[in-house]
Amino acid sequence: MIKKLVMATNNANKLREAREILSPLGIEVLSQREAGAECEPDENGTTFAENAVIKAKAVYEIVNLPTIADDSGLCVDALGGRPGVYSARYAPKGEECAKLLDEMKDIPDDKRQAAFSCTIAYIDENTLHTVSADCKGKIGYEEKGENGFGYDPVFLYGEKTLAEMTAEEKNKISHRGAALEKLYSFLKERNGD
Ligand code: IMP
Repeated sequence: MIKKLVMATNNANKLREAREILSPLGIEVLSQREAGAECEPDENGTTFAENAVIKAKAVYEIVNLPTIADDSGLCVDALGGRPGVYSARYAPKGEECAKLLDEMKDIPDDKRQAAFSCTIAYIDENTLHTVSADCKGKIGYEEKGENGFGYDPVFLYGEKTLAEMTAEEKNKISHRGAALEKLYSFLKERNGD
C-alpha cells in the first residue's frame, strides 16, 4: 500500500497539481526538498521517458521511498519534433516564444501542428513504470495571454492559447494533467482499490 510518494521536483505548481489529482487516493506527496534529496541529475536522455526515469532514479536512490518524476516539452511537427527534450534549453527563459515564432514565420497555417508531451516515471523497490500523455494544438502567430509559463502564449488549443486559460482550464486539457490521471489509475490499482 503506497501512502507516501516523493516527487522529484521542487516546482510548486507541479507539486500542487500532483497533490490535487492524487489526494483522493490518500497518498501524501512530498517534494524532493521535503524528502531531503538535494540532487540535480544530468538530464541527458534523448526521450521524455529517459529523462523522467533518470530524475526518478536519482531521487529514489537517496530517499528509498516510492518516487515519481516528470519530463515534458513541446514538439513542433514542422520542426521535425523540435525543441522536444531540449525545450527548456531552446532559448533563454522568457525568449522561447519569440524565437519559436521567428523560426515558424514562413510555415503556413495547415502545417503549424504541435503537441506538448509529458512522461511521468514511477519507481519503487521492484517496479519501474512510465505513463505518457500529449496535448495537441497549433503554434499561433503572436504571443497571447498572461497566464502559464514557457510556450503557453503561442500554443493554441482551439481558439485560445494556454496562456489565456485559467490554471483550472489548462489542467483539464494539459499533457501533465492527463499523465497524472494515468498515474492516478496505476496507483489506484496498485493500492488494490
Ligand atoms: P520540464 O519538464 O519542467 O523540464 O519542462 C521542460 C520545458 O518544456 C519547460 O521549461 C517549458 O519550456 C516547456 N514546457 C513543458 N510543459 C509546458 C507547459 O505546460 N506550458 C509551456 N511550456 C511547457
